Order: sequence, then C-alpha cells, then structure tokens
Amino acid sequence: MSSSSPRSPRAYRGRLLTPLAAPASGSPVRFLDDALLVVGEGGLIEQVIPFSPGAFRGLVLDLRPAVLMPGFIDAHVHFPQTRIIGSASGALLDWLERSVFPEEARFRDEGYAELVAAEFTGCLLASGTTTCVAFSSSCPGATDRLFRALEHAGLRGIAGLTLMDQNCPEALCVPRDEAIAAARDLAQRWHGAAAGLLEFAITPRFAPTCSRRLMESAAQLASDHGLPVQTHVAENPAEVEATLREHPWARDYVDVYDRVGLLTDRALLAHGIHLSPREWDRIAEARSSVVHCPDSNFFLGSGRMRLGDARSRAVPVALGSDVGAGRSFDMRRSMSSAFDNALCLGDRLPVADLFVMATQGTADAIGLGRTIGSLEPGKEADFIAVRFPERVQGEADLLNHLVFAPETATVRRSFVRGRPIHPRPPE
Ligand code: GUN
Ligand code: ZN
Repeated sequence: MSSSSPRSPRAYRGRLLTPLAAPASGSPVRFLDDALLVVGEGGLIEQVIPFSPGAFRGLVLDLRPAVLMPGFIDAHVHFPQTRIIGSASGALLDWLERSVFPEEARFRDEGYAELVAAEFTGCLLASGTTTCVAFSSSCPGATDRLFRALEHAGLRGIAGLTLMDQNCPEALCVPRDEAIAAARDLAQRWHGAAAGLLEFAITPRFAPTCSRRLMESAAQLASDHGLPVQTHVAENPAEVEATLREHPWARDYVDVYDRVGLLTDRALLAHGIHLSPREWDRIAEARSSVVHCPDSNFFLGSGRMRLGDARSRAVPVALGSDVGAGRSFDMRRSMSSAFDNALCLGDRLPVADLFVMATQGTADAIGLGRTIGSLEPGKEADFIAVRFPERVQGEADLLNHLVFAPETATVRRSFVRGRPIHPRPPE
C-alpha cells in the first residue's frame, strides 16, 4: 500500500473518546456524544468538534453509532511468536527453551516468515492496534519480511532484528560482526521508511543471550543513528541470576545495560518486575521507559510489576501485549490485566487511566507522544471506530465495556495517518 495521505480534508462523524495529551485538570479523557473528527492533508487532525449541521463543508463519513478513539499501541510484541501464543510450557527460561526457541528457528525459512508476518499484521489489525513495537527473530531475512508486511498493511511500527550470540540454540545464534552488519543494513533500508511510519530498533534479546561486546556494538549503532532500543529486564528471578552469572562485572541487571551504553532515553525495557530501588533510580536518571506486560507476567508466573515504583520516579510506562507470552494481541486484554496486576498489589486503577495507558501513555513512553496517542488537532490521524451494543451509552459505560468486556465491542475500522487500513481497502 502506498503510504501517501488523503488529498482533501474530510470529516468522520461518530461518538468520540480520547485521552488528552495534556489534561488541564479533572478527567484525563474527553468524550463527545456526537463529534466530527476533521482530517486534513497529510493525514493530520485539523479539528475535533461537536457535530452541528454545516459545521464542516467537505465530505463527511458517518460512522455512527461507532465510537472513534485513538488506535491502540502495543509497545512490546514478538512477531515470531504469533503461532505459539498460549503455550503453557513453564516459567520464562523453560518456556523459552521448550516453546520459543524451536519456533523462532523456523523463521530462517523466509517463506514461513512471510506467511506468519501476514498473520501477525492481521492479528494487530483485528485488535485495533495501529502501532506496534515488535521483536523479530535473529534472522535478517525474516526481519525484512516483517517490515514488508507492516508496510503492506499500512501500520505504524518500530521493529528490530533480535540479537543473541550466546546461551541459545545454534540455529538462533548469530556472531557479533554478522549480526551488527545485518542490523546496520536493515536500519538503512527500513528506518524512516513508509514516509516515516516505520522505525528500526536495536534489539538485544536480553542480557543472558548477549555478550558484552555484542551489546557494546549494538549500543554504538543505536547512538550513531539515533535508533530506539528494546530489550527485556528483570522479568524473572532465575533470569536475573543468569544475568549476573553471565556478566559478573555489573553490579545489577540494569548496570549491564548501563555500562554497555544501552540505557538511553530511547530505551524500552520490558517487564521490570524484579528491580531494586537503585535500578529504578538509574532508569529514571537515564530517562529510559519501562514496558508493562501484565498479561504475560500472569501467564509465565513472572510476578507483579509495581507501577508505583515507576510513577514515583516519573519513569514513563508503556503497555505491551508481549505475545506469545501474552495471551492476546488485543490491548484491551492488556489493559484488563494491568487492572488485575494493580489490584493484586492493593491498587484499584481507574478505567480511564488504563485507556490512557494503552494510547497516549504508551505513545509518550515510545517517543511518539506528540505524533499519536490522542485525537487532538495537530496529531496524526491514527484512529479506530469501535461498535458497542446499543445499550452501552455514556463515557463510563463505554470505557468499562471497552476495557473489561472487549468481546462486546468490535473494531469496525482502523486508520493510520488518515488512511484506511482495516478493513483492507481494495488494491
Ligand atoms: N526474555 C527474553 N526473551 C523473551 C521473550 O521472548 N519473551 C519474554 N516474555 N521474555 C523474554
Ligand atoms: Zn518480550
């Protein structure tokens, strides 16, 4: 699909629910019972106004009774785990050995990678996700297929070649020089592609499967080209132990990433469950972000992430499905699991906060908070139209059903930068 934008302004009519990028006071969301979302040239939002006859003179697409809202953002998802979702084969390290590594090895076959890449983008579109931050496998060809599929689907995405050069099966192990050369090539090809909708991320899998020299070279590449970084941190106690055994020169897990240069203001650290106060302080100082993956944490029994540790230090928190450890591509499941996670720790998160977390909050944490995440003038028009049962009315009811009863609400349409991407327009 071409990534150019609609030529003339048009408006979409519907109910409208959006977070506010900078809420002045009171509610962090805005709800309009009958609204016009006016999208101009280049796919930018020009106006969000209550509907009135004659308020807009151009073409109006009436999507009522659907609710227009920002597309969901999944800040942590594994493309090559699309087909092993729900594999309950143990806690993190056993699950990686038994379920993940054998499947990821299959992605050396580019035909297989292409097939699954189309399934992956189909799952994102069906769930109302318009932006993903994705891990590929360690195979450059598969990573190229992933980017092609994202471009073809018209999705916004940040994705990277998974780097690992030790403690993993031979089929997935790529020596440093080869891996860094491949990452550089992929970055040249895809970083900024599709008119800026795509970005390439430096993606060391996690400290146990990466040598110090690999991580140092990866950090250098990120710094040379201003690339985002994504990895995992402190998800599971056995993983933390393995990290410190493997990297005895570091004082703790975060120090591994810090000393090699990966702890930047563009770093997205997934999980962050078993972190010390010192590690949280360093993450805050480095202005890195943490990606909360609550559904995955329940499924693998990894533990409960303490949101308060992040919030008290103003560490940005994104939300991730972490499929295949997460059990659904649907970010509504992640919001619901984030509620459960907080409840286990004695905190009852307001539903509006959960909605903000999966949209504006995640956009802020991944560095796109001025571009997407809310439906407000000046933002790019990444939005979805969600259909609820007739009986569901009003802001509170809609939010409750959206987050806690997602099966009652269907994603009817998705747009990225004003361009329809779901259902797929005819070629
Ligand atoms: N840590 C290292 N690799 C992975 C992975 O694929 N999934 C999760 N949840 N944690 C990891
Ligand atoms: Zn993960």
